[in-house]
Amino acid sequence: MRKTKMLHFAWFGSAGAHAWNVQGGSSYEWLRSDLYVDIARLAERSFMDMVLLADLPAIPAAYGGNNDFYVRHGLDIHLDPSPIVSMMGAATKHIGVGATLSTSLYPPYLLARLMGTLDHLTSGRTAWNIVTSASTMAAQNDGQDDLRPHDERYDIADEYVDLVRRLWDSWEPDSLLHDRESGVFADASKVKPIHFAGKYFKSRGPLSVPPLPQRYPVIVQAGTSTRGQAFSASNADMVIAHKNTLSDMKAYVSQFRGALETAGRDPSSCKIFFSIKPVMGDTEQMAKDLWDQNYANASVERGLSYLSGTLNMDLSKLDLNEPLPADLPVSGMIGKLLQYTQANKSMPLREIAKHEAMYETYPICGTPEYCADVIEYTASETGADGFHFRPAGSVGDICYLMTIATKLMPILQRRGLARSSYSGSTLKENLFAF
Ligand SMILES: Cc1cc2nc3c(=O)[nH]c(=O)nc-3n(C[C@H](O)[C@H](O)[C@H](O)COP(=O)(O)O)c2cc1C
Repeated sequence: MRKTKMLHFAWFGSAGAHAWNVQGGSSYEWLRSDLYVDIARLAERSFMDMVLLADLPAIPAAYGGNNDFYVRHGLDIHLDPSPIVSMMGAATKHIGVGATLSTSLYPPYLLARLMGTLDHLTSGRTAWNIVTSASTMAAQNDGQDDLRPHDERYDIADEYVDLVRRLWDSWEPDSLLHDRESGVFADASKVKPIHFAGKYFKSRGPLSVPPLPQRYPVIVQAGTSTRGQAFSASNADMVIAHKNTLSDMKAYVSQFRGALETAGRDPSSCKIFFSIKPVMGDTEQMAKDLWDQNYANASVERGLSYLSGTLNMDLSKLDLNEPLPADLPVSGMIGKLLQYTQANKSMPLREIAKHEAMYETYPICGTPEYCADVIEYTASETGADGFHFRPAGSVGDICYLMTIATKLMPILQRRGLARSSYSGSTLKENLFAF
C-alpha cells in the first residue's frame, strides 16, 4: 500500500556524554556549543520539524545500587538542555527546538517563564517535552525523599500543565502595546494575576513574560502507559513513542486515537511519532555488516545499566537467559517494560540489554532506498504521522545525522514523503501544515 501523506521528521538527541569516546566525531566535543549548533543547522537543512533534547537531571544509581557504572562510562550524564535549545534557536530560522523538562522537578512558574522566553527568542519555534521523571535520584536531587507513585506523577502533571497554561494566558493576546507615543507599555486591564491554588501547586501570576508567539509552546509527550496516554490525550500536540514492532505501533495508534476521542479531541489533533534508527549501508551487505558490528560492540552490562535506570530498578541480579517478567514491580517507565513484555515477550534479558545498548527500537537495516521503503510502509500500515530519529547521544549524533541528512532525507523528499521547504513560520504551523 502506498502512503501519499507527507510525513514529519524530528531529531531526538541529547546533550549527553554517552558517546564521549565515539570514533569519527573527534572534531566535536560534547561540552562545546559548536556540536549542538551544527546539529540544529544540519537538521534544518533536511527540513525536519524539530530537534528535541532529552534530559535526566541526575546520574542514575539503579544498576548495582550506586553511581559507579554510570560515572565510569559516561552514561546518562547530561548538560541542561535549555541553554542549548536557546543557542540552537539563535543559529536557525525555521526548525523547531525543544527541551525536556520535568513536571515532578521544575517549579511551574519558572518553567512558564523559561518556555515563554524561549518562544519569544525563537519567534514561536519552541517545544516542551513533558516528562514526569522516573528516577529516584532525580527526585532526591530535588530534595524529595522518593519518587511519587507512577500515576500520581501524572495527576501532578495535569495540574502543572493547567497552571502553566493559565500563566501563559495571564496576558490577553492584545495586551502588549509598546506604544511610545502614549508612553503605555501594556494595557494593565488585560494583564491579571491568576491566583491559582490547586492540590499540588499555588501561584499568583501574572507571568513576567508577555504573550507567547505560539500562545503555548508545542507540547510533546511520551507516556505510553494507560495513565500516560490519558495525560497525553488531554495535553499533547505531539507524542513520541518507542515501539519495537509494527503490530505494537498499530495497536498504540488505534488506542491513542481512541484516547484523544475520549478526551473530547479530534483524533488527528495530536501528531504521533515513532522512534527509528535506520542502520544504512550503500549495499545491503554493508548495512548488515554495520548492524553486526554494532551488535558485537553492544555491551550487555551497558544495556542493563541503561534499562535499570529507565525502569528505576536494579536489574543486575536478574537471569540474563530469561525474558523480563511482565509483572516486574517497576516504578519508573512502564512503557519501557511494555516494549519488551508485549510483542517481544520471549526475548531473553541478554538480548534486550543488547538492543538497549544499541539504542534500537524498531529495527530498520539496509540501503537508504530500502530504509525509505520501510519508513513509507510503516507509516502506511500504522497511520503514524511521523518519525523521530533516535541516535546514541551528543557526539555520536552528528556523525549519524550527517548520514541521515545526506543519504536518507533526499530520498524521502524525492518521493514526496518529507517536506522540502517550511511553509509556516512557527513550529506549530509547520507541525500542523499536513
Ligand atoms: C522517545 C522518548 C523520549 C523520552 N525522553 C525522555 C527524557 O528525555 N527524559 C525522561 O525523563 N523521560 C523520557 N522519556 C520517558 C517518558 O517521558 C515516559 O516516562 C516513558 O515513556 C514512560 O511513560 P509511561 O510510564 O507512561 O509509559 C522518553 C520516552 C520516549 C519514548
